[in-house]
Amino acid sequence: MGATAAIILAAGKGTRMKSDLVKVMHSLGGCPMIEYPVAAAREAGASRIVIVAGHQSEKVKEYFPGGDEIDFALQEEQLGTGHAVACASPSLEGFSGRVLILCGDVPLLKADTLKEMMACHKESGAVLTVLTSRPDNPFGYGRVVKGVGGTVLRIVEEKDANDTEREIREVNSGIYCVESGFLFDAITHLSNDNAQGEYYLTDIVQMAAAAGLSVTSFPVSCAEEVMGVNDRGQLAEAGSIIRKRVNQALMYAGVTIVDPSVTYIDRGVKIGKDTIVYPNVHIQGVTEIGENCVIEPSSVIRGCRIGDGVTIKAGSVMADAIVHNSVSIGPMAHLRPGTELMNHVKIGNFVEIKKAFVGEDSKASHLTYLGDATIGKGVNIGCGTITCNYDGINKHRTVIEDDVFVGSDVQLVAPVTIGRNSLVAAGTTVTKDVPPDSLAIARTPQVNKEGWVKEREKGKGK
Ligand code: UD1
Ligand code: CA
Repeated sequence: MGATAAIILAAGKGTRMKSDLVKVMHSLGGCPMIEYPVAAAREAGASRIVIVAGHQSEKVKEYFPGGDEIDFALQEEQLGTGHAVACASPSLEGFSGRVLILCGDVPLLKADTLKEMMACHKESGAVLTVLTSRPDNPFGYGRVVKGVGGTVLRIVEEKDANDTEREIREVNSGIYCVESGFLFDAITHLSNDNAQGEYYLTDIVQMAAAAGLSVTSFPVSCAEEVMGVNDRGQLAEAGSIIRKRVNQALMYAGVTIVDPSVTYIDRGVKIGKDTIVYPNVHIQGVTEIGENCVIEPSSVIRGCRIGDGVTIKAGSVMADAIVHNSVSIGPMAHLRPGTELMNHVKIGNFVEIKKAFVGEDSKASHLTYLGDATIGKGVNIGCGTITCNYDGINKHRTVIEDDVFVGSDVQLVAPVTIGRNSLVAAGTTVTKDVPPDSLAIARTPQVNKEGWVKEREKGKGK
C-alpha cells in the first residue's frame, strides 16, 4: 500500500481544561490522552509519527521513550493547524507516501476507521480525504462544502461561514489522509487572511480543488469516534467510552464483569478467562491477572502480576506485587510494592505486606505487618505479629525459615532470623536469632494473687 506517516497535532494548551497540565497529557483510562492517537496511527500502519508539541512539549516528549518511530516537532506559537503541519514537515523530509493527520485531543478514533479511510482514499485516487461526521449540533466545526457529484470543494470555518454554509450538517473532524507531495507543497502557500488570523490547514482543500485534484470525504460511521476533548466534562465522557470498550473486549475474551458500568479497568490490563470481577473494582497500570480468579468489590490493584485461581476479597489494595497461584488475599489486605506471594499463601484481613517474600503454603490470617521480610514455606504467622523493620534510621530484614510457627502478638525486632521448624510463643518480643527446632519465649511470668479482688472490694466498703 506504500509508506504511511502520521502527524499528530498537539501543540494547543487546552484552555478550557482550566488546568496547569497541558490537555493531551491528561489521563484517560490509565494513560495520557495523546497515547490514543499515537497507538491508532501505529496500528493503522504508520511507520513514522511526528507529534507537534507546543505547550509543555517537554512533558509530552518525556512520556514517549526515544529510539522508536516517534519524532517531535516544536510549534512555539500556535498560529493555526496549517502552521502546525508546516512545523512537522522538516521531520518528514524525503518521505513519500500518504500522511495521516490526527489530533492529540481526539482519543476515541479507532485504528480500523483509519484503515477504512485509507482504503477509500486509495480507491478514489484523491490527493486528500477528509474524515467527516454529522453531529447533532454542528456549531463550531468547519463545514464541508461540496459540489456536484459530492466532490469536496472547500472547508469553511464557523467564524468565516455565511448563513447558507452554516446550514451544512456535514463537518470536518480535523482528521485527514493526504498525499505527501501535495501536502508539503500546499502548506507553503497558506495565508492567515481569515476571521481568526490563523493558518488554516483546511485551506488545502480549496487549493487541491483549484488545481483540479480530487478531494473526497469519508464519513465516520460512529460520531463518538471523532469527539474532541476540550473540557473536563468531555474528558469524563471519553473516559467512560474507553472503559466500556476495555470491559467489552475483556468480556468477549471470557472474563465475567458483573457490572461493567462501575468497573474501572485500564487499557492494556490482561485478565484470563473465567475470572470474575465484581463491581467497583479498579485494575490499573501494567497488571496481568490469570484465569479463574475472583476479584471482590472495592479492590484496587495496580501494577500487579497475579496467577490463576487467586481470590482477592473485598476492599483489598495491592500495588506492584507478584502473586502466584491459588492464593487468597483479604478482605482488606494491603500488599505494597515488592511483595511476592507463592502458591497457596493465605493473607487475611488487616494484613499489610511490603518488600516481603512469602513461601508456599504460608499464612498470615489476621492483623499483621510484614515488612522487609523473607518467609519460608509452611509458616504460620499469628494474629497481631509485627516485623519491627525500622529503627528510625535504617530498615532491617526479618528472615523466618520453613515450617516456623509464630504465635499471636509477636514482635520481631529486625535484623533477626527464626530458624526452621521453630516456635515463637505468643506475646514474645524477639530480639535475637532463634536457632532451628527451638522454642523462643520472652514474657514476664504470670502471677495469680488469689482472693485479691475480694480484698479490694472490702476496702472500698462494698
Ligand atoms: C479544526 C478545524 C475545523 C474542524 C475542527 C474539528 C482548522 C482551521 N479547523 O478547528 O474545520 O471542524 O478542527 O475539531 O483546522 N493545534 C496545534 N497548533 C495550532 C492550532 C491547533 O497543534 O496552532 C492543534 C490543537 O492542539 C488541536 C488540533 O490542532 O489538537 C485542532 O485545533 P483546534 O484549535 O481545536 O481546531 P479548531 O479551530 O477547533
Ligand atoms: Ca477543536
